[in-house]
Amino acid sequence: MSETLTSPSRTAHGTLVVNRVLVSAHAVAIIGQPVFAGGYLGGDYDMLWLHRWGADAVSYLAYAQILAALVLWLVRGPRWLFWISLLLALGETGQYLAGMKGALDLHVPLGVALVTATVLTTVAVWRPQTWRADR
Ligand code: HEM
Repeated sequence: MSETLTSPSRTAHGTLVVNRVLVSAHAVAIIGQPVFAGGYLGGDYDMLWLHRWGADAVSYLAYAQILAALVLWLVRGPRWLFWISLLLALGETGQYLAGMKGALDLHVPLGVALVTATVLTTVAVWRPQTWRADR
């Protein structure tokens, strides 16, 4: 079993702060998506343009989150965030493609699952983290 540390270096702590901000921004962006979709389905067709713009923002944030989580891994932070970020980005890429194809039978339930997973990830990343003594 690997040894764990309770007090990270300043760099490691800064990396965790960057990850927390990114994950939170990702959650805010993805929560906007059902709101815009609802407006569109309610007859405000400009909302589809916002939903499309939001989809790009969500995707860029998801890819940035993978890189940030990889750096967090390298500074001996928790590894779980990297794997979750990878899964979220894969799911969101599928979500983007399903949206473009108009496959709402996949797009709506997958969207609900992705919003839930992103919110749970945000709660988890703001909790105290375990630091490793080795890589
Ligand atoms: C619960 C969450 C979501 C709901 C309820 C939802 C719903 C919808 C609806 C109703 C449409 C219109 C489809 C059509 O008219 O054929 C749409 C399109 C789309 N959605 Fe979502 N969506 C959600 C989340 C997301 C997310 C997270 C992404 C990106 C990762 C995304 C990307 C897209 C794209 C790219 C389109 C096509 C837009 C276009 O045709 O210009 N959606 N979505």
